Amino acid sequence: MDNEGTICMKTDKDACEEQNVAGLYQDTQVAESYCQRRFAHSWSSLLHRKQVTEVNRALAQFQPGDTVELAPGPARLTTEIRGVQRGIMVEYSHEMLTVAQKRLSEAGLASRWDLRHGNAFDLQSMDIHCDFLFTFRFIRHFIMSDRIRLYKQIHHCLRPGGYFIMDVVNRIMRERIEAQSSKKSKNELPVYDMAYTPCEFEDEIEEHGFVVRRLIPVIKHFGLQSWVSFTLDHRIASLAYVTVAILERVPSLEPLEWIAVCQKME
Ligand SMILES: C[S@@+](CC[C@H](N)C(=O)[O-])C[C@H]1O[C@@H](n2cnc3c(N)ncnc32)[C@H](O)[C@@H]1O
Repeated sequence: MDNEGTICMKTDKDACEEQNVAGLYQDTQVAESYCQRRFAHSWSSLLHRKQVTEVNRALAQFQPGDTVELAPGPARLTTEIRGVQRGIMVEYSHEMLTVAQKRLSEAGLASRWDLRHGNAFDLQSMDIHCDFLFTFRFIRHFIMSDRIRLYKQIHHCLRPGGYFIMDVVNRIMRERIEAQSSKKSKNELPVYDMAYTPCEFEDEIEEHGFVVRRLIPVIKHFGLQSWVSFTLDHRIASLAYVTVAILERVPSLEPLEWIAVCQKME
């Protein structure tokens, strides 16, 4: 299945560690085309919309003083995030930061965010502290030992009781998709994706000092929703989006991903 970068087939050569994941995004072309290439289809556009909605919902509920976004890339989400009092972004790619700065200025949000070039594996040395932290399409790309290092940094950075939001790939769905596809799309970056059952994720996160407060399912009927996208997007994109969004209202036990709202344990 060619879906331009969002569903990855895992191969032995996929980047999955600190340096090789960072290296993939230090590229102007990758930075400038990121949002357009990866969120062009109706189903991926809905995924984006749901992530924005849930982060905004959590911000409205928790009203944090200090917010951090790790690895924001080109500020895909950030330009639509509301309710941030003081925000810091930590991003390793200068190319991504350039695009993020431009997009935030265009959205009139540049004054809310302090864009920092830095390494998410080294937040401690940046002396960053916050009440709310979110990061999407980032932690999932790393092997266990690196994910543990990231959880430690996030735990240190969050104040007691602070909230942490990330995306979680559903292992059952990922395995189904992989069983049906044999190769990566030429548009995909060679990057690893860790996938979980809800219990596996809860165990992993609890082991590192957080408790899962909510797991919000996203793209509940990927097979049907991606089929609608591929069939209708290039003909009547608005109808495709509406159909995909209506399907999302139907409950399912096997969404493509979840949005996890976690809290630092006291
Ligand atoms: C797949 S993109 C995700 C961008 C955005 N969060 C989103 O959801 O669309 C991964 C981002 O992580 C950044 N990144 C990779 N390694 C990093 C590190 N060690 N510290 C901070 N950012 C890093 C990359 O430069 C890239 O912008």
